[in-house]
Parts: sequence; structure tokens; C-alpha cells
Amino acid sequence: MGGENQSSAEGFLIVGFTDLPLLRVPLFVVLLLSYLMTLLGNLLIMVTIYYNSHLHTPMYFFLSNLSFIDICHTSNIFPQMLAYFFQEGTHMSFIECMLQVYFFIASIFTELFVLSVMAFDRYVAICIPLRYMTIMNKGVCVQLAVGIWAFGLLFSLLYISLISDLTFCGSRTINHFFCDLTALMKISCSSTRVIEVLTYVLGVIITLGSFTLIITSYINIISSILKIKSSGGRQKAFLTCASHLTVVVIFYGSAASSYIRPTSTYSMKENKMVSLSYIAVTPMCNPIIYSLKNADVIKGLRKFLLL
Ligand SMILES: *[C@@H]1O[C@H](CO)[C@@H](O)[C@H](O)[C@H]1NC(C)=O
Repeated sequence: MGGENQSSAEGFLIVGFTDLPLLRVPLFVVLLLSYLMTLLGNLLIMVTIYYNSHLHTPMYFFLSNLSFIDICHTSNIFPQMLAYFFQEGTHMSFIECMLQVYFFIASIFTELFVLSVMAFDRYVAICIPLRYMTIMNKGVCVQLAVGIWAFGLLFSLLYISLISDLTFCGSRTINHFFCDLTALMKISCSSTRVIEVLTYVLGVIITLGSFTLIITSYINIISSILKIKSSGGRQKAFLTCASHLTVVVIFYGSAASSYIRPTSTYSMKENKMVSLSYIAVTPMCNPIIYSLKNADVIKGLRKFLLL
């Protein structure tokens, strides 16, 4: 018996949606569909961009990166969550839990960086179009992409080194549907002060930094668009950044909704629902927004599907 206690003490019990019995079946159906749509939509975007040479521009390469992140981000959470959906909780080992937190944080950072680079790309394309080819050349884009991924994976490593040091002496039950960082900190008996301060400082620096870059880019973009004489040209310039702007608004909207109130005032039920907005909704929206509003992607998609 002692051995059993020991082994369960090494991992965590993930509660899942057991506290929402009435919502369970509809939630399962919605989440399964949204996961399948996320996979399908983002794969379609990546394949379409890959096979259409007219989409081989920095904007679409970074869009393809965004789709790739969305696939990783959702696949980090969904398969395990759906597989054990109707059980009264899932056991997760300490390592599995740390890996999930690691990839969760890495994908959020990376997505932020990619969205910022995409804003910069639109800024160069619209405000200084004559220098676009020299500024956003292949080498620069590859360097940017490598930098984004390296930073995302590294920042997350810093985090995980602090989190893996936490000790757990009381309850090992995580009231969430994955190994959520805030839920994890709630049950830890060591001080989480350093992690909280780090989250706050990094969150403010990175979010404000990327937000400032995006806002500055768009202020410049809008003022250039307003200077365009022909209304056709104005509309065309506007359309090329409308999809990106929509994605940015959704991403920051869902991120803000989880940060605006301190987590301690949330009930865990609310916390789960808020998490779903950036785990299930945002990754599914990106391909829809880009393919519905973008004539070039639609053209590429048609060509690809009729092949
Ligand atoms: C990400 O972007 C870089 C730079 O444009 C590109 O070379 C690379 O193929 C992209 N990766 C994916 C998975 O889309």
C-alpha cells in the first residue's frame, strides 16, 4: 500500500470537467469538433502556402508558422483531455505535467512574437514598400523565425526550471483540464512569489513590447493608407492587414480576459472557461479568418483542392 501512495504522490490528479456534469456531453462534442477543425484548418493553410509559389512571401511564411504553433498548442492539451473526458480525473506524472506547462508557455510566447513580426512585416510592406524586398529578404525572415522559436523555447525553459522546484506536500489534485500553471501554484506548499513576480514582469515586458510594436505599426499603416489617393488602392492595402489585425484583437482579447482580474478572484469553473477561449477558440479562428478574408489564400486553396 505504501508503494502505491508513493507512486501517486509523484504525479497529479487532473480533475477535468467532473464539476460540470450537465455540460459534459455538449462540451465534449464541441471540443472534439473544435480540435478537428483546428487541425484541419491549420494543416490546410500550411499545405496551401507550401504548394503555391505565389504565397511564398514573408507574410504567408509567418502565417504558416502561426498555424504550426496553433497545431502544437492544441495538440499539447486536447488529445489527453479528450481521451479521459468521461473519467473521474486523470493521473498525470510529474514529467508529463512539466512538459505540458513547458509547451503551453512556449507556444504562447512564440505566438506573441510571430504576431509582432507579422505586424512589422505589414508596416514595411505598406509604409516603405520600395524597401520591402531588401528589409524582409529571405535571410532576415529565416533569422527572425529562428530567433522567435529560440526565444520562445528558452523563456519557457527559465520558467520550467523554477516551477519544477516547487514542492507539493498536501493535495495533488489539479482542478483543471490540463496541467495549468495557476492551478499548479495553488496546490504547491512552497512560496510561489518568485514565479508570480517573474510572470508579472515577463508578461508586462513581452506583452507591452509586442503590443507597442503592433500598435506603432498599425498607426503608421493607417496613416499611410489614408494618404493613398485611389480608393481601390486604399481598400487593397487595408485588406492585406485586416486579417492580421483581427487575429491580434482575438489573441489579446482572450489573453487580457485572463489577466484583467487577479486569478484568485476566479472560481475554478470560470478559470476553465477562460482557458478554453485561448486553447480552443483562438487556434481555430486563425485559419478561418485568414481563408475567408484573403483572396490570395482562397485562390491557392482552390488550386490546391482541384489538383
Ligand atoms: C516559418 O517562417 C520561416 C521564415 O519565413 C520559414 O522559412 C519557415 O518555413 C516557416 N516554418 C513553418 C513551419 O511554416
